[in-house]
Amino acid sequence: MTEEQRLPGGNTGGAVRIGDTVRRIPGRWTPSVHALLRHLAAVDFPGAPRALGFDEQGREVLSFLAGEVVGTARPWPAWVHSDDALRQVARWLRDLHTATAGFVPPPDAVWREGGIWRPGMVVGHNDAAPYNAVWADGRLVGFFDWDFAAPVTPEWDLAFTAFAWVPLHARHVVAAEGFTAFGDRPRRLRLFLDTYGWNGPTGQFIEIVRQRVTASADGIRRVAAAGDPAYRSLVEHGIDAALETAVDELADFPTG
Ligand SMILES: Nc1ncnc2c1ncn2[C@@H]1O[C@H](COP(=O)(O)OP(=O)(O)O)[C@@H](O)[C@H]1O
Ligand SMILES: [Mg+2]
Repeated sequence: MTEEQRLPGGNTGGAVRIGDTVRRIPGRWTPSVHALLRHLAAVDFPGAPRALGFDEQGREVLSFLAGEVVGTARPWPAWVHSDDALRQVARWLRDLHTATAGFVPPPDAVWREGGIWRPGMVVGHNDAAPYNAVWADGRLVGFFDWDFAAPVTPEWDLAFTAFAWVPLHARHVVAAEGFTAFGDRPRRLRLFLDTYGWNGPTGQFIEIVRQRVTASADGIRRVAAAGDPAYRSLVEHGIDAALETAVDELADFPTG
């Protein structure tokens, strides 16, 4: 049997590699995620792993996306904060939303968080951050870790992705990741939104980001309070508190 190799990074369960495949601990949402990934394969969307079923240990099996990942590196590699990355991620997200617009999940679909599909919604990635991206030769290969995929409005997914890549997180958080060009953020946000094709005013978008991030912080605390060890660890590490700091700081975001 080919050797099993622990992959770098991961915020919850992590993953191992065997040959050209990745194995991850599944959740109750995994069958719905695999249905989504099969849809993406059927419409030839390249930027996602393929779902390959389950192995003899009951782990989900996915195709391995080859390239560079952020992993445990701090600060993050320079490509994360380039304008070019911002454009590529915005195009990837636009193409994802186009590709999932035709995917109506079955009524019994189970998602990790939320998600009753209504017309106008898409099934978003909902965690398309640098720590879930793969790069090769200066190109975005795609995003892995589809555990938070669920029906959302396109703006909701766009808000989180902008938060992660502009970046719009709290200053102390993004500084530790290697981003300190705070004055450049309004320009970078507009570049991201224009490339995606979101034409509304920046101030309106920042309010959507604040709601999206508040929902994240509330969700972490709720699941932690219900006893989930991974989420309790997030609270112990101050992740929900940092998100709240970001929401407060965004109240003063220059919107021109
Ligand atoms: N399909 C994939 N292709 C390539 N690498 C992957 C893939 N899925 C996961 N990884 C690797 O495994 C690590 C942890 O995976 P991830 O799915 O993000 O775990 P977690 O749910 O704990 O965040 C990633 O940082 C990446 O290095
Ligand atoms: Mg991850």
